[in-house]
Order: sequence, then structure tokens, then C-alpha cells
Amino acid sequence: MTGINFNMAAKTISVEEALSKIKSGDSIVSALAAAEASGILSQLHTIAPKVKDVRVATCLPMGNYPYYMDPAMEGHFYHDAWFFTPPVRKSHDESGISSYVPNHLHRAGLDRLIFAPPTVFVGSCTPPDKHGYVSISLSATYEREMMNAADLVILEINEKTPLTFGDTTVHVDEVDYFINNTHDVHAIGIPPINDRDLKIGNFIADYIEDGCCLQLGIGGIPNAVTAALLHKRNLSIHTEMFTDGMVDLYNAGCISSQSSFYGKHFHRQQLTGKMVCAFALGTQKLYDFLDGNPGVAIMRGCWVNNPYTIGNNKKMMSINTSLEVDLTGQICSESIGPKQFSGTGGQADTAIGAQMSEGGKSFIALYSTADIKQPDGTRKTISKITPSLTLGAAVTLHRSNVDYVVTEYGAVRLKGAPISERVKRLISIAHPDFRAWLEEEAGRIGLLKSR
Ligand code: COA
Repeated sequence: MTGINFNMAAKTISVEEALSKIKSGDSIVSALAAAEASGILSQLHTIAPKVKDVRVATCLPMGNYPYYMDPAMEGHFYHDAWFFTPPVRKSHDESGISSYVPNHLHRAGLDRLIFAPPTVFVGSCTPPDKHGYVSISLSATYEREMMNAADLVILEINEKTPLTFGDTTVHVDEVDYFINNTHDVHAIGIPPINDRDLKIGNFIADYIEDGCCLQLGIGGIPNAVTAALLHKRNLSIHTEMFTDGMVDLYNAGCISSQSSFYGKHFHRQQLTGKMVCAFALGTQKLYDFLDGNPGVAIMRGCWVNNPYTIGNNKKMMSINTSLEVDLTGQICSESIGPKQFSGTGGQADTAIGAQMSEGGKSFIALYSTADIKQPDGTRKTISKITPSLTLGAAVTLHRSNVDYVVTEYGAVRLKGAPISERVKRLISIAHPDFRAWLEEEAGRIGLLKSR
């Protein structure tokens, strides 16, 4: 390294040396998703013979690491998951290791300080610059709070990780140890857009005027929404997750927050001139876009996703996806019955925040039906709009906080509407094959009594 010597050599250790510092009873917090420390996490199981009761908190883990996938790790490790992914679901079902932590994402790290304050933080970063700063790159969702609280901070230097700005800038003095671990950054595939996605995207696009500020959630549909917005102008971004679709919007000239500080169009009142997010996850195209891009600010999730912060933007449009909606407007986006599927994430944060914004709206989008696998291997089509939520389903967004619900059959507004009217509106956007059944069930369970 040139310039001032930050004594990196003395701080640089091997994965084995890092693992030797972990002890029984530790509370490890891992950086989120593509920012995770894959060198340490992939080898954590090797210290099982000498540790017990080590808790590891993660959000959207990218690797199928043995410390939580191998049932023999129970008692040595407990995996506290802020968001379930397919391997975490498998770990939960097949071992006693993984358990979901109910959370609103903007509080996840802060609430960890109450349950199990971190003793060790592990994440990844860029190589240090000449001033001694690294970038923790793809997430500031809870990382800074956890680094501040932990006794031991270990970062893996990945030369391929994008250099990002905002709350991701960390001085090497804040880090106890570095490990060199260069590898391709974890990427996720983008599902192809189908006809249902396009219809939903177009229904939502009708409500989004030029000059709106966008939040787009996780899942297939939000990606289609960006495709339907490519003709809009002067949009800005204040989102939990930065996605490939947002890069497409930027490249199509839809985003003005880069240049609108003195312009007449901007509706952002905070960090104007930046696209704001708490983390980024997508393909290499997204990571190339973010690398060295001062137009994107990756800021602390406790600020980005705080509904009050979101509500301070004007014309804030929040677009999220769901698994099941009942006829009163209760939204389940994270479980299939009692089985945890994903997580609350920032769905409630952003939906509530958008409705606090002047001119803001929240959209919950879902297909009208799902083809679900039966125990005998056959598939059955069910309505995702249901008379009641499936027994055990988690309410991700309370019915009092629901604004628009959108399917491929239309968009209806529930905000302020009584249950009898909600029933009518939701049935109008259900799949036609299920409308008579929904009407009958609504009557049977007494949802139409006020008519
Ligand atoms: N009952 C049973 N199964 C259902 C179902 C229902 N009501 N609805 C969907 N499914 C099944 C689907 O058939 C699919 O199964 P498959 O994988 O076998 O095909 C699976 O559940 C996933 O459904 P899909 O619609 O493809 O999900 P998605 O990838 O688009 O993600 C959510 C949708 C809701 C899971 C995702 O958006 C989420 O986790 N949201 C909560 C967090 C959030 O919104 N955060 C916002 C800020 S980023």
C-alpha cells in the first residue's frame, strides 16, 4: 500500500486465525446477503468441537454453510435468521439450528442489541484506499450499529466487491482484523417477466406520475414494475433494496435525482441528488453500476427504512409483493400457513412510510393464484385472495396499514374502506374461477353483514 501505513500487515490474518478467536457463547452478526463474509462462514463448522452455544445472526444468507445446514451442528451453533431463504428453510425443517427472528428491518440490528448484543461482527469490504478507508460495499442495513457494538470486527477484503459510498465508508481503525478473500460477489438471478407481471406492472405504472420517489421490494413482480416505468421521467429512488431494475430505469433516463438539486422536478427532501438504499442485491450488472458510483448512497437501514424518513419524501411510491391476502385486507408476505417462507423485511416499514408521505401510495402486488405442490407431487391452483388467512399465517402488513392491492385483474384501494367494501373490491381482482367461492365464503363467515 502507498501513502500512510495503516499497519494492515499486522491486522491481516488467515481464516483459521480468525476462527480461533471465536469462543463458546459468542453472538456473531454477519453482514447482509452479498456483503457476507463467506470465508469465515463457510469454515465456521470446523470449530464445532471446541465451541457451544454460539449464536449467528444473518439476513438473506447467500451460502449453504454447514454451520447451519448440518444437523450435527445443533448445540454448537444457533442460527437466528432475519430473513429465510431456501437453504434456511431446509435448515429450519431438518435441524433445530435455524429460527426466524420477527423484525421490521429498520429495527433488526437495534433489537439484536436487546436480545444478544454482538460480540463478533463479520463482513466483507473493498481494499483500503490511500486514506485508510474501506467500503463495506453492498449493505449498511444494520452493519454499522453491529460493528460499533461488537468486541471484535473482522472484515474479508474482496477485491471484486463494489466500492460504494454513504454509511458503507469505514476507516481501517474501526476494524480489528482483515482477511484476504477475493471471489465473485454473490449474485441472484432475475426471473423473466411474464404476462401476469406485465399486467400488474402496467396497473401500478398508471398511478406513478413523473417525479415520484420509488421503493421496490423483493420478488419477481417489482422487477416487472420497473419495466413498466421506462417511459416515466424525473423519478427518484429511496428504497431498502437497490435492484437491477433500478439500473434499467437510470439507463433509460427515468431517474433525475442525480442532477435535480437545483431543478424544479425533485421531490426528495433528504439526500437530494442521490439514489438512496440500505442494501443492494442482484446481478453483476448491478454491482458494476454501483462500483465507484457517487450517485448512490447506501445508508443505515435504521434511517433509510424508518417510516418517518420514508414519509419525508414527497410522492413516495412503495411497491411490495405478497403471498396471501384475506378479504379484510390482512397481508401475509412471509409465511405459507405457519411455515416461515421469507421475512417481514421492510415491507411494513416502506408501506407505512409511503402513506405518511405527501402524495404517497403503497401497493401490495400479487398474482391472483398460485400453483402449489401437493404431498402426492401433483399441482393444485389456489386463490391467493382468501376468505381468511391460512391458519398460522403471519400478518406482515396489518389491514389498517394497507393501501392498494394489485393483481393481474386490476388495482383496488382499501385505505379507509369498511370490510364489506374491501370484500367487494378484493373479489373484483380475484381470479374469475374463485370469485363465486369467495363471495359465498365471505357471506358464510359474516364479512358481508353490514350490507
Ligand atoms: N400459498 C401457498 N404457496 C404459495 C402462495 C400461497 N398463497 N403464494 C405463493 N406461493 C408459492 C408459489 O407458488 C411459489 O412456489 P414455487 O417456488 O414452488 O413456484 C413460492 O410460494 C414463491 O412465490 P412467488 O410469488 O414466486 O414469490 P416471489 O419470489 O415473487 O416473492 C414474496 C414473493 C412475498 C415471498 C417476497 O416478496 C417477500 O418475501 N416479501 C416480504 C418481504 C418484503 O416485501 N420486503 C420488502 C422490502 S425489500
